[in-house]
Amino acid sequence: MKTFDNYINHLKKNQYSWLITGAGGFIGSNLVNFLLSLNQKVVGLDNFSLGIKDELMNLTKNYNNDLFNLIEGDINDKDICFSALEKIDFVLHHAALGSVPRSISDPFSSNEANISGFLNMLIAARDSNIKNFIYASSSSAYGDHEALPKVEDVIGKPKNPYSITKYVNELYANTFSEHYSFKSIGLRYFNVFGPRQRENGDYAAVIPKWIKNILNNQDIEIYGDGETSRDFCYVDNAVQANIIAALSENEIAKGQVYNISVGNQTSLNKLLSMIHKNIENSIGEIIKIKPIYKDFRPGDIRHSRADISKAKNLLNYFPSHNVEQGIKETISWYIDKK
Ligand SMILES: NC(=O)c1ccc[n+]([C@@H]2O[C@H](COP(=O)([O-])OP(=O)(O)OC[C@H]3O[C@@H](n4cnc5c(N)ncnc54)[C@H](O)[C@@H]3O)[C@@H](O)[C@H]2O)c1
Repeated sequence: MKTFDNYINHLKKNQYSWLITGAGGFIGSNLVNFLLSLNQKVVGLDNFSLGIKDELMNLTKNYNNDLFNLIEGDINDKDICFSALEKIDFVLHHAALGSVPRSISDPFSSNEANISGFLNMLIAARDSNIKNFIYASSSSAYGDHEALPKVEDVIGKPKNPYSITKYVNELYANTFSEHYSFKSIGLRYFNVFGPRQRENGDYAAVIPKWIKNILNNQDIEIYGDGETSRDFCYVDNAVQANIIAALSENEIAKGQVYNISVGNQTSLNKLLSMIHKNIENSIGEIIKIKPIYKDFRPGDIRHSRADISKAKNLLNYFPSHNVEQGIKETISWYIDKK
């Protein structure tokens, strides 16, 4: 089976057209950056409800301007989905409204973007000539099932509206495989982090928020006792998973979902001390931090850890970064940006 390096060499010699939905967002913009750096043609589709257009355009300015095309539009518009798919080889579908708390306060909008929008994309992709459709699922698909590590076939009941939307994506993908022989690949991401993740706003993820707060001498809030744990996944691992899934020639690998992370568990307390220590090392100063422990957040699960053997065996996925290596890269990116 080909390795990630083999696929990179293949892309250096062969130019394809990629559609990245959610290109203005965190994971989408990292995919755009990676593919443009390999001289691939990229169409980015985003309605910029969360993504930032100027940041995306600044990023793409670093490359030959024939390579990137932006479609500013909504995946709830069927015509946009169909026209975006013209002359595309691979789709990396990442447009969605993330965040469990956001979905609890506004389930309708999450449903619109994550389920109706997903279905539009799936129908348009089924009716086009693409080679492969990769979509972002989530570890939230495991719902209330507590067993660790999480294995793809063993899931529980969804715990919140976001988790329902990601589970429904997988159900639709599966049904399209059965009824229309349209096989896609779902990537169940586990807490992805890295450069360009939003650090501001009510729904910012924990790592960019804490890095920003520590750099600005602000308090750190921890929901619960800090022993809640997650399998934090550096964004380069997610990028790798998209590329190997899209280019995979292994027919058995298609029509499946995969855990994408590292396969390790880190508690919030440990994560905070790792970020704190790495920031101190990076800037060469002692920083005092004061974590404030708050109530557990509704809808959150207690622990999470991925079994990544399915992705290893069928896709040849081997994460390049563990949590600490990813934290170092992320901190240096935020410090450079400041
Ligand atoms: N970041 C994580 O830890 C994580 C974990 C599990 C799953 N995921 C999934 O990965 C994908 C990307 O996540 P992210 O962290 O990059 O999120 P993000 O919010 O940074 O990016 C999502 C992008 O989608 C765009 N978008 C939202 N609704 C849209 C619509 N209706 N039409 C067009 N564009 C729309 C937003 O403007 C944004 O730019 C999402 O599907 C998310 O659910 C992310």
